[in-house]
Order: sequence, then structure tokens, then C-alpha cells
Amino acid sequence: MIQLIDVSKVYGEGKKAVHALRNINLHVPQGKIVGVIGTSGAGKSTLLRTINLLEVPTQGKVILDGKNLTELSHTDLRNMRRRIGMIFQDFHLLSSRTVFENIALPLELEKLPYRKIRERIHDLLKLVGLQERSHFYPSQLSGGQQQRVAIARALAASPKVLLCDEITSALDPQTTRSILLLLKEINRELGLTILLITHEMDAVKLICDQVAIISNGQLIEQGETSSFFGNPKTQLAREFIESIFHLKIPEEYQARMTPTWSPKSYPLVKLGFTGKTVDKPLISEVCRLFQVDISILSADIEYAGGVKFGYLLAELFGTQEQCNTAQQFFIQHHIQLEVIGYVRIDD
Ligand SMILES: Nc1ncnc2c1ncn2[C@@H]1O[C@H](COP(=O)(O)OP(=O)(O)O)[C@@H](O)[C@H]1O
Ligand SMILES: [Mg+2]
Repeated sequence: MIQLIDVSKVYGEGKKAVHALRNINLHVPQGKIVGVIGTSGAGKSTLLRTINLLEVPTQGKVILDGKNLTELSHTDLRNMRRRIGMIFQDFHLLSSRTVFENIALPLELEKLPYRKIRERIHDLLKLVGLQERSHFYPSQLSGGQQQRVAIARALAASPKVLLCDEITSALDPQTTRSILLLLKEINRELGLTILLITHEMDAVKLICDQVAIISNGQLIEQGETSSFFGNPKTQLAREFIESIFHLKIPEEYQARMTPTWSPKSYPLVKLGFTGKTVDKPLISEVCRLFQVDISILSADIEYAGGVKFGYLLAELFGTQEQCNTAQQFFIQHHIQLEVIGYVRIDD
């Protein structure tokens, strides 16, 4: 449906040039929801804006529905843009217009007769659950309701594609969830193709079929959500996924930690669970097999697509040899293992 081929975008020139996108190849299949995640400044918004040519790529092709947008005439491009809906973090509603009038805007541009506009808006308001709010002004609505209006407006011209740029960043978790589920419903009912830009992994897990990571203008990896987080293929993707997890080493521990083994010290290890990790009770097995005691300091484990993934910080108590064998055992069972340091036990 949407295909970016070798797309690059450079803002400015010479020394001040910013390479916002570098040779991006992205495919968003028809009817799918694809999430794009990345840190701030990674190039997410630029990527989204190149899809409807709000940003013209410095290099590369944007193919939508089989048409190369970079080659379209002015008029054809304008028509094509109508088929691409867009929603933003801060709603972009007109404060002087009611809900009805905001949604009517794109329909008025299409010069639809008033009766048709009214029918269409009635259906749209029903779809987003705001039938009772037709004559309210944006300021009289909650953030979630305003985003629903923006969604209805984006859908007014019956787009084939919906581009969403951090649309839940200004909303609380519960409202976020209801907005995301609304998108999923729209995706299912209307067969709409959706590109969802976000920095929240939960959003991706909740509704995306596929996910892509963008970092420093480069698309690092794209895959099915079900296997993506548990089985990242590249080191960068692994690092990014790791950065989403929150593992903290207490300061008191850090003060007692040395980088190498010494008597009366025990390894503090970070265990990374991935999709490859067999779903066996490995920790208790290690305790039993190698007479090692394990104390868990911190854990952040997620569950998606039938696999567990995440990280765990644990101290291993035993002789140096026991601890070494235990570590080998974890590695053999596809747990990523990193010794963070050795924690001294004071008498
Ligand atoms: N209009 C612009 N002019 C110059 N630089 C820009 C412009 N828009 C974005 N950038 C730069 O491009 C990079 C990517 O920005 P953006 O796409 O907004 O990232 P994200 O949405 O992931 O936070 C950043 O370094 C940003 O400063
Ligand atoms: Mg952005």
C-alpha cells in the first residue's frame, strides 16, 4: 500500500545540513497497522510527512497505491492527498468551529451538498462515539474527545491511509487505550491502512501488526509485532528494546561493586530473556542443579505474541566455580547474560 524506496531527507545545506532520513525502505501492507518507534529526533515525523509529500524527499520514491507520488502532477497529488488522513498529538482542531463544523471542513472542500455532509457526519460521529457532542466547541471537550473529533475529520474524505503522529502523547493511559482501540476498530471495519508513530511500546503491542524501529534517520529493523521484541535481529534493535525497559541498580549496590571478582564478592548479572529462551523455569533449575542461591534485584518482563521477553537483575550466591557454571547454563539456554559487576558482602 505504502512503499518508501531508498528515501532520504536532508534539511538545510552544507555544514548546517541535517540528515533526517537516510535511505529508508519501508513497506506498509494494505489493511495493516504498522507502528514506527524511535527516540525523539530520530526522524519519525519527517518520515510520516514524506508519505503525503508534506516533506519532499531529497532522494528516493514514495509509492502509494501503486503510484509514484514524486512524479504526480500538482492536481493529481492534491487528489491523492485527500486519500491520506492525518492526525497529530495536539489535535489541530479549529477552536472557532463546532465539532460538526470541524468534521465538515474536508467535505466542504469537496463541495458536497449539505444534506450529504450531514449524513456523513452523523455516521462519523457514531463511529467515534460522539453523537451527543455535535454542537460542542473543542474547548468544551476532553483531550480524548478532541482526538476523536480529529479522527472523524481525518476519515471524512474516506481515506485509504491514516497517518498518526504521536496521537496519544498528550493523553492519560486510559484515554490512550480507548483511542488506540478505536483505531483498531476502524482498521478492521473500514480496512484502513494505518501508520502509527509512537514512542510507547505499549501502543505497539496493543494494536500494531508490524513494527519498525527508526534511529538517527535510519530504519533499523521491521518485523511482525509478535516476534519483534522477543527476537530482535540487529544489535541496534536490541539496544533500543533494552532502553525501553527500566532496570535500576540501587546506589547502595553500586557503591559496593567492583568490575572484577574478588573474595567475598558475588556476581550481579543481567539476564535478558528473548523469544529464543525456552519457557522453562530456568532460575529454580539453576538453584537446584548448581547449588547457587539467586536473589532478584529488579525485573521488567513483558509478554507479547506468546513470548516472554525482558530483563532481570539478579545476584548469584555460591563459590566462584558454581557461579560460573550457572552462568554457562543460562547462556546455553539462550538467555543473554551480562555480568554487571561483583558485589562485595561486608561481614
Ligand atoms: N523543518 C526542519 N528543518 C530543519 N531540521 C528539521 C526540520 N524538521 C525536523 N528537523 C530535524 O530533523 C531531525 C528529525 O526530526 P523529526 O522528524 O521531527 O524527529 P522525531 O519526530 O522522531 O522526533 C531532527 O534532528 C530535527 O531537528
Ligand atoms: Mg515527531
